[in-house]
Amino acid sequence: MNQVYREREVAREKAFLAIWNNDIPDVFADVAKYYDRANVFATLGLIDGLRRRFISTMHIAPHFRVLDVCAGTNVIGIDLLSREPSLEIHAVDRSARMQQVGQQLAAKRGFRIESTICDVHELPFPDNHFDMVTLQWATRHVRAIQVFSEVHRVLKPGGHFYHCDMLRPANKLVEQMYYLYLKACVTLVARAFGSGAAALRCRDYFVNAIRMFYSTEELSQVLAALQFSPVVGRPVLGGTVGFHKARKIAA
Ligand SMILES: C[S@@+](CC[C@H](N)C(=O)[O-])C[C@H]1O[C@@H](n2cnc3c(N)ncnc32)[C@H](O)[C@@H]1O
Repeated sequence: MNQVYREREVAREKAFLAIWNNDIPDVFADVAKYYDRANVFATLGLIDGLRRRFISTMHIAPHFRVLDVCAGTNVIGIDLLSREPSLEIHAVDRSARMQQVGQQLAAKRGFRIESTICDVHELPFPDNHFDMVTLQWATRHVRAIQVFSEVHRVLKPGGHFYHCDMLRPANKLVEQMYYLYLKACVTLVARAFGSGAAALRCRDYFVNAIRMFYSTEELSQVLAALQFSPVVGRPVLGGTVGFHKARKIAA
């Protein structure tokens, strides 16, 4: 692994560990009941189209065993099951409240998703267990290299990891505009949905987490250094978002 990225992980952890451990669990416990509506509001309706685009990059086959990491309200699992009902979907997330909402949403559609409440820095699954792994909108809040290493461990050789997150745009002007938009968003969502104290405390964190995060190209390099190959990274919306498709090298 490139020393620069190792140092960045150390710096991210130093800057954010207290927030990750103390505030982020409270933020998601609080937003669970309005999380999906707030996402539609904050992205002016773009979120569902982005998810569909992300899912369209995935190769799925009947009976695949799939792990959705930081699954939240199970939007990925539900979307995948509506495309291929024979999939065996496992969701992991630390927030019992987010998963409770996710289980209700899955049940409403008649889908079954196996839920495990845990911290994703250690995945409670054997090596080489899943045909594919997904992770959407959450890596900013975790130690990326550690979680990606765990994803690599639980993936079967030849299996794919699909990743989507808000990333640091390579273009400086886009980056500055993005931060202004994010700050405004947190304030507007707080007003519209009555967010609790933890979300308000995290207003600066939501911007700083991206300031210290990876660009699409950098995230491709991180994944390649962890023995994924090939790695395809695609910047979306000016690089404010990135899709990655990374294959675990077949044995
Ligand atoms: C922004 S939500 C994304 C949810 C879902 N992937 C989606 O696409 O809507 C981030 C999720 O990551 C979870 N999370 C953050 N840090 C975590 C950790 N260390 N272990 C497990 N889950 C974590 C939160 O509980 C939350 O449900």
